Amino acid sequence: KIHPVILSGGSGTRLWPLSRSAYPKQLLPLVSDQTMLQETITRVCAWPEALAPVLVCGNDHRFMIAEQMREVDVRPHAIMLEPQGKNTAPAVAAAAFQLLRQDPEAVMLVLPADHVITDRAAFHEAVRRAMASVEQGALVTFGIQPSKPETGYGYILRGQAHGQTGNFSVDRFVEKPDLERAQAFLDDGRYYWNSGMFLFRARDYLDELERHRPLIAAAIKEAVSKAYTDLDFCRLDESAFASSPSESIDYAVMENTQRAVVVPADIGWSDVGSWSALQEVMPADADGNVVRGDVHLDGVSNSLVRAESRMVAVLGVENLVIVETDDAVLVAHKDKAQDVKGVVDKLKQSK
Ligand code: GDD
Ligand code: MG
Repeated sequence: KIHPVILSGGSGTRLWPLSRSAYPKQLLPLVSDQTMLQETITRVCAWPEALAPVLVCGNDHRFMIAEQMREVDVRPHAIMLEPQGKNTAPAVAAAAFQLLRQDPEAVMLVLPADHVITDRAAFHEAVRRAMASVEQGALVTFGIQPSKPETGYGYILRGQAHGQTGNFSVDRFVEKPDLERAQAFLDDGRYYWNSGMFLFRARDYLDELERHRPLIAAAIKEAVSKAYTDLDFCRLDESAFASSPSESIDYAVMENTQRAVVVPADIGWSDVGSWSALQEVMPADADGNVVRGDVHLDGVSNSLVRAESRMVAVLGVENLVIVETDDAVLVAHKDKAQDVKGVVDKLKQSK
């Protein structure tokens, strides 16, 4: 059996103006009629081995998240509320301590709430393959074949075969290399991207966290033991949680542990980190356009056009991202889609 643990804490500023801190991308229906969180949950909760999911999220989004779970008829095991964002190492630790209270053998499948996986069957198969290594105490990451020198990802150097499992031990885990190193990893051919999805026993993760980041482990242990539960919400203790260092699971644990194993996963994965990435995973028309809402095109190609509240007409352009919302409009060249984050940062500063 597997406990899905869904991380829903980010704000996805690169998908501005649709994604906002009040409505981060995982709570929006970006790719289908379901929100990305709902897609993530329904993808795994259909499996016979999946138990009720644990969600870890910020306090502000709790009602939206609870409502979205009701819409897809999923009753979470717990919705754990972080008093503040402390990145993913503490969030995963909170879920691990919570699960250990009632299941000492708990195996957790950690899933970001905002990823796209187009081949569900292949993903299920990869998780099954990962179980063989997890039963031997491994911390499994799912590795994606890289296609460009992306600097926003972790890179995994595959090592020896991990026993008879068909998986590989990890020789090296490098989180967010600079462009030169990313290019070298791509050229090398033995590296995978870290998908940010993990499978391990709760106690194995906590052992490694205690070894490499004892301050995080101690703070979160206390935050969970003093947590206050009302209805489905589990409110982590504010002052204990605040005392935890803020760090991602990648830097805190995966770069340091000797027990990492990679399961290569060809599953149609994308973390939809930008508008151009979103366009790539959505079905396009004959001219390569991806369109949502009341949009009229004439002589337009390879563009993503999204109208939320008004009609949008576009003529004679190519390779654009156009996103209309009721209080902001984005027009960008596709190659500049990553830079939206910079605009949002500037807007925040000027406020
Ligand atoms: N609950 C909670 N609390 N969730 C969080 C928090 C937090 O404080 N911070 C981030 N998350 C969630 C985000 O919503 C996202 O779904 C996931 O955890 C990963 O966080 P990101 O901030 O998106 O990480 P990243 O993109 O920089 O890097 C990670 O993902 C890459 C693949 O998308 C790393 O794991 C990389 O190694 C990986 O390649
Ligand atoms: Mg991300």
